[in-house]
Amino acid sequence: MPPEPPPLVGRRVVLGVCGSIAAYKAAELCRRLVDAGAHVAPVMTDDATRFLGAVTLSALGSEAVRTSLWDEAEPAPHIHLAAGADIVVVAPATARLLGAYAAGIADDLLTATLLATRAPVMVCPAMHTEMWEHPATADNVALLRRRGAHVVEPGVGSLAGGDVGVGRMAEPGDIVAEIVRFLGAAGERHLAGVRVLVTAGGTREPLDAVRFLANRSSGKQGHALAAEAAARGAEVILVTTAGLPVAPGVEPVKVDTAAEMEREVLGRSGEADVVIMAAGVADFRPKAPAPAKLKKAEGVPEIVLEPTPDILAALGRSRHRRPQQVLVGFAAETVGGAGLREEAARKLADKNLDLVVANDVSAPGAGFGHDTNEVLLVGADGSEQTVGLTDKREVAASVLDAVVDLLRKRNS
Ligand code: C5P
Repeated sequence: MPPEPPPLVGRRVVLGVCGSIAAYKAAELCRRLVDAGAHVAPVMTDDATRFLGAVTLSALGSEAVRTSLWDEAEPAPHIHLAAGADIVVVAPATARLLGAYAAGIADDLLTATLLATRAPVMVCPAMHTEMWEHPATADNVALLRRRGAHVVEPGVGSLAGGDVGVGRMAEPGDIVAEIVRFLGAAGERHLAGVRVLVTAGGTREPLDAVRFLANRSSGKQGHALAAEAAARGAEVILVTTAGLPVAPGVEPVKVDTAAEMEREVLGRSGEADVVIMAAGVADFRPKAPAPAKLKKAEGVPEIVLEPTPDILAALGRSRHRRPQQVLVGFAAETVGGAGLREEAARKLADKNLDLVVANDVSAPGAGFGHDTNEVLLVGADGSEQTVGLTDKREVAASVLDAVVDLLRKRNS
């Protein structure tokens, strides 16, 4: 048998390096990426060149290091770098870089490249513990994750100046493995040309002109699903009630009530190859919302509720019109184990679905509002898969892996 080709052959990596003591590890990372077959275009910030000689990275990379937006021989280098990349990796990523990228500030070649690219972005933070744990950094990292960036968490170890703590950049070998896994998954499990409709967030059902009935769904899981689908090349429409950031390549449609969501979803579902109903749609709404604000002086109002339309059930009932479509529902329950499994199976059958993503929202770290989730995937074919407590983006990746399998079976 011929030997396996190196795992990153044909892959173009833009390797961004910032001014951190961990910049020395970028040299090792660059060498390992080239050994793995990647074409590496290194970009250094000015501060990075204080820690690591540009000559070193130029010698190790596939192209000479770039450090400036203002090279007369190559106008707009960020556009060319951004368009040609299969992935942009920033290692080390400093607190400044994370802040600038989160804020959309493109004042040097690396940040301009990050804003210009449609390729997946991986950041590998490195900084002192205090800086990593500062709420500003934590918020920037959370925002970048929600927009679809892949964050390789720093580990615990010795930091600059002899300190020890969390903030040490991940090891080059681990970063390469992560890139291989990421690009490999994106390559094999891609969704290019697939039209995906995702819903997200809890609906708000008016009681009067100023009040509404709502639920605890934050929209984070739905937005993560949309980001992951777009990163895999799908055409994504996200019907959402949440004011969360939307990943590049995702078309947002903002709604508020179950009725608005029903209109947008049913109006667009005919075009979709995959529908993922991650939204927390209200089951009941006030039957006759008051057109003006209800006054306290008028006494406690009697509120009569009526059922909302079940959007997913409607899609399930009419699926004979779209036999190839993959239909995914969510089941947010307050039971785990066998109870959760039973609920998932019931929903699968009742709503005529292909896949149910069930979670026990009362479990620690899972469900509403958290950045993490723990789910049970139950397929109409009887398959089951548990995804242990992890980032909602990782949960999204597992759900889309299952969707890819269903699409393949359907089209084979
Ligand atoms: O029946 P239940 O509300 O538990 O089902 C949850 C699933 O059904 C979710 O995927 C949710 O988005 C969807 N749903 C819907 N329309 C409703 C209620 C729930 O599409 N009115």
